[in-house]
Amino acid sequence: MQTKKLTIAIDGFSSCGKSTLAKDLASQLNYIFIDSGAMYRAVTLYCLRNNWISGDQIQITEIINALSTISIEFKIDDQGNKSISLNGENCENEIRQGHVASSVSRIAEIKEVREKLVHEQQKMGEKGGIVMDGRDIGTVVFPHADLKLFVTASIEVRVQRRFLELTQKDIQMTLDEVKDNLVERDFIDSNRKESPLIQAKEAILLDNSKMTREEQLQWVLDLVAGKEGQ
Ligand code: CDP
Repeated sequence: MQTKKLTIAIDGFSSCGKSTLAKDLASQLNYIFIDSGAMYRAVTLYCLRNNWISGDQIQITEIINALSTISIEFKIDDQGNKSISLNGENCENEIRQGHVASSVSRIAEIKEVREKLVHEQQKMGEKGGIVMDGRDIGTVVFPHADLKLFVTASIEVRVQRRFLELTQKDIQMTLDEVKDNLVERDFIDSNRKESPLIQAKEAILLDNSKMTREEQLQWVLDLVAGKEGQ
């Protein structure tokens, strides 16, 4: 029997392992994986390079006018590694740096930025068989997703995980800087006017504070198996 190709939406707070889970799930199910946060980070990088963000000042009109010139794509190299490209340039590492992390949530508040990226994300998911993670996937991007998850973990666990991830990528940030950034982004993301981070009505809550990567994957695969048969 042919199993149904699902649309899976994963939302949640900063650094709670959404992308890891989404990537593992997609690889297990042979689905497309999209890290929607990387797209907001790439737009932010473009704005930083053009000096449209300086301290608290954001040049919103310039950003909105430039949106049609920003092209974001996901590419897969010969080794199967996926990376994001900004106007043809691989920016996978640069978008994880502290200067991008510090500004991204303010760029993600801009309605026109969200409209552009949501439209592109919806096109990527047209055929189903996709796992996308972010902040508004189950509420705005795929409101009719077959499976919606809302992922969280304690702040201590999230800080540790992000710190380790950055250290492995040779990105220098102290534990306090990591924590401040996560807390600030969670606040902005949850309180903004446009598509704030909220748990969709149908979303299943997953607190993975005490779960290993394998345990959380199995937990979700069991849910997927139930949905595929429906
Ligand atoms: O990986 P991490 O949890 O740190 O964040 P991310 O998924 O890379 O997203 C970076 C930022 O982009 C978030 O803090 C949000 O401000 C924004 N974002 C959003 O507004 N909507 C999404 N669907 C995904 C990310």
